[in-house]
Amino acid sequence: MLLQDKVITTAWSRADALKVKFDDPTTTQPTVDLEFPVMDETLFIWDTMPLRKLDGTIVSVNGWSVIFTLTAIREPENYQNEDGSYDITSDWNARHGRARICYWYAKDGQSWAFGGRVMADGVSPTAREWAGTPILLNDQGEIELYYTCVNPDATIAKVRGHITETGDSVQLSDFHEVTELFTADGFYYQTEAQNTYWNFRDPSPFTDPNDGRLYMVFEGNVAGKRGSHQITSKDMGDVPPGHEDVGGAKYQAGCIGLAVAKDDKGDDWQLLPPLITAVGVNDQTERPHFVFKDGKYYLFTISHQFTYADGLTGPDGVYGFVSDSLFGPYEPLNGSGLVLGNPSSQPFQTYSHCVMPNGLVTSFIDSVPAPDDSDYDGDYRIGGTEAPTVQIKIEGNRTFVVKEYDYGFIPPMENIFIK
Ligand code: FRU
Repeated sequence: MLLQDKVITTAWSRADALKVKFDDPTTTQPTVDLEFPVMDETLFIWDTMPLRKLDGTIVSVNGWSVIFTLTAIREPENYQNEDGSYDITSDWNARHGRARICYWYAKDGQSWAFGGRVMADGVSPTAREWAGTPILLNDQGEIELYYTCVNPDATIAKVRGHITETGDSVQLSDFHEVTELFTADGFYYQTEAQNTYWNFRDPSPFTDPNDGRLYMVFEGNVAGKRGSHQITSKDMGDVPPGHEDVGGAKYQAGCIGLAVAKDDKGDDWQLLPPLITAVGVNDQTERPHFVFKDGKYYLFTISHQFTYADGLTGPDGVYGFVSDSLFGPYEPLNGSGLVLGNPSSQPFQTYSHCVMPNGLVTSFIDSVPAPDDSDYDGDYRIGGTEAPTVQIKIEGNRTFVVKEYDYGFIPPMENIFIK
């Protein structure tokens, strides 16, 4: 059977999403303290990508934990309020346009030292370096960073280099040559020509524990011209009476894409049908990634309140689906899909959650509400730094928030000695 015929695409339905609830204590992230510490006052960091192996294990190298982050240098000289003070909100909102991938290292998995950029200026072919996944390939210290080249277009790419350490620091070197892997095809995955607001990014490669082949999941939208999508009975699900009117929901068409490597190096890829679609439900299913546990496939993805379709809502946070097979069908975790959302009192406190195989969930602080009498200007204190790590327990098709750790705590699951 051809691989593309094996995929049983699952619709995350409107009925599933109607079960999403704010402030269920078992699926809500504890509130982030307004007085959070900042890793570096000269930088913004957001999407955080721990170094891992293709089987998902979070690794340290000779005792050093390593994380990659989307990073922008703060520009107080370019973003000012009328009174000349720093307009951090405008600077933060503009950061995506100048995102660069940087790395950090720590012996204790949490006191992160800044290592600098992974690729020097001019190496990456487009204006923005967006999210992906760094993979430690072997005990020679070879790393492949899968990431997204954005503007112009959006291309899934990778760059290979080396990690070395001196005893008191970690260096990444030789990330000189970017290999472009693929763009959206317009058949399974929407292109810019079909929708100027298309989403196509965030590769997460992995070895399937079952067939041993190299695959990746990524964020996409279902192919087709914007506004042309039909909301089928599968997309609707079993909605209660009175929920037939979907307003402008046809404009939301997020999906989790799948691709398979045609060679063992992962230089040549074939696009497969999406694993999950959210047509009429949500326009963004970002940074998808797997956790393999108890013989099951747990597929996590992040999404926003503002990307839900008309008639639906839910918190910014991480959502998840479970299956007995890579190819589906998948079932939304907790009935709704919601795994860990922001509390309604602090709806934008964190984002870009990454669920690690040990159940720890890392994310970054976006903004925390700041009362008028606080030390912070405006309505919010902007983050741009690591959030407290949260632990969830995954049991069958349900998850539970069970513990909170320190800011940016990302411990290794295995230490690799490099030669
Ligand atoms: C998630 C995200 C990713 C993208 C990046 C751009 O926070 O939207 O999908 O790669 O941010 O900054």
